[in-house]
Amino acid sequence: MARTDHRVLDEVLAHSLPFFVQAISMKILFVSSEGLPYSKTGGLADVIEGLPRALRELGHEVAVLLPRYHGNKITSTLVSSVTVALGDQLRFPAIAEGPSNQGVRYFFVSDPEYFDRPQLYGDKDGDYPDNAERFTEFCRVAIEFTKRIWLPDIIHCHDWQTALVPVLLRTQHARDPATRSLPVVFTIHNLGYQGLFPRATLRKIGLPESLFAVEGIEFYGKLNFLKGGLIFADYLTTVSRRYAREILTSEYGAGLEGVIRGRADRLVGILNGVDYATWSPEADGLIAQNYSVHNLAGKRVCKKDLLAAFALPAENLDRPLVGIVSRFADQKGFDLIAEVAGDLLQEDLAIVALGTGQPEYEKLFKALAEKYPQRVAVKIGYDNALAHKIEAGADMFLMPSRYEPCGLNQIYSLRYGTVPIVRATGGLDDTVQNFAPRTQQGTGFKFEAYEGRVLLGCVRAALKIFRDAKAWRAVQANAMGKEYSWKVSAAAYVTLYEAARRSRVLQAAGSSK
Ligand code: ADP
Ligand code: GLC
Repeated sequence: MARTDHRVLDEVLAHSLPFFVQAISMKILFVSSEGLPYSKTGGLADVIEGLPRALRELGHEVAVLLPRYHGNKITSTLVSSVTVALGDQLRFPAIAEGPSNQGVRYFFVSDPEYFDRPQLYGDKDGDYPDNAERFTEFCRVAIEFTKRIWLPDIIHCHDWQTALVPVLLRTQHARDPATRSLPVVFTIHNLGYQGLFPRATLRKIGLPESLFAVEGIEFYGKLNFLKGGLIFADYLTTVSRRYAREILTSEYGAGLEGVIRGRADRLVGILNGVDYATWSPEADGLIAQNYSVHNLAGKRVCKKDLLAAFALPAENLDRPLVGIVSRFADQKGFDLIAEVAGDLLQEDLAIVALGTGQPEYEKLFKALAEKYPQRVAVKIGYDNALAHKIEAGADMFLMPSRYEPCGLNQIYSLRYGTVPIVRATGGLDDTVQNFAPRTQQGTGFKFEAYEGRVLLGCVRAALKIFRDAKAWRAVQANAMGKEYSWKVSAAAYVTLYEAARRSRVLQAAGSSK
């Protein structure tokens, strides 16, 4: 049987190797395609802000390397320019350092032709056709960065856009004494995005044909960047324990379950944390009135403000208000809502949704808003301030995901007393406990089977509790009392970084014999 998550971590801790790696300050380099406060399309960006900060607070030196996108108009200092060979093309990206933020250093890879575009990964016509070249360049610059500017003790890469870092280090740079013992931890934030390209791309990005193999980055006749990360990184993590188990199965493994099973002894699930300075009703500067678990009066003011922001009538103030903030993607389970929308709206509830993405889901919410103008409203787009207003002003937060590696919005919702209704998968299952009326324990409402009827039953269960003011107060208080701060997760990453360092030193010693 495959072994995963905490058991592996425990084993790692138990197998102290003969030499000693000091647990004091490490130099940690984050390589990511997005990160707040500079760029964001989803939860990855929140992680790339929160985790480096938490590691810094634990006493480590941390730097973050990001592409310099359109709109990143920061004052920065040029630190180097790099020549990158991409097949038969030479490119000359620059590396600039931006201002430090809470002790974390920020570096940017600047190549306007590749990164100064309206969006990060694609536009209305789909993914940018040169994404393989863009992110290969980014990965190659990351390696040069470690050699010339800042040699870390560990590199932490995230998702397919950075997966070539371990691939290149362990193949084309395998004999380079400067980087041979440089360990890489690779985090899977979402197995649904793999970086798949035609075989011919291999030549364009300057990778050898030998890598196009089953034990390399070939995947059903295509090139698969993510697979490279899974194979060549020293350790793998994903963002919840349950998702770490799920991705070993064909239902959730997105075709890579075999590869992941082969590395199960190097896979750990570490739950994402939350930056409560940004996401809590006590501190939030973007909501109509602050409130706390001790006094929820402000939450009603926020609800009123939210209804106004969505131009819904004030009569909804006493009706349960369900909030949605999401990328509109298949992953998020909106086809279930489509399946039972008629029955759902038979219930006495109102819905506010904020999101953007696949046209069919934008259409779904627009059609509902048209049909039920008094009770349903949608804003298509990306709007951080409105996302905060929904977290504060809604009574319930709906997240019926088909799969969810971690999910942040349900964790934010808990803190705002906005009771999550979720499907029991991935991080949603790990962070929400089903409310039991008998014991008054639990923080939200969960359902298992991916079926519209089952979702409907779960919403009805939540509505029933909502009508019982005392029970509702209990579920809210339980939720608001939960703490998913970064501190605990950051400490788990440190343990893993140390294990990766030990393992890499051993491997490098072995391969130089
Ligand atoms: P994912 O990364 O799969 O999109 P997460 O729940 O981990 O899901 O993170 C989503 C993040 O993006 C949250 O911080 C959420 O508030 C934010 N977000 C998603 N869609 C929008 C939107 N339309 N407007 C503002 N913020 C959004
Ligand atoms: C991905 C996942 C989401 C997770 C986020 C940050 O986008 O879809 O579940 O919370 O990454 O790890």
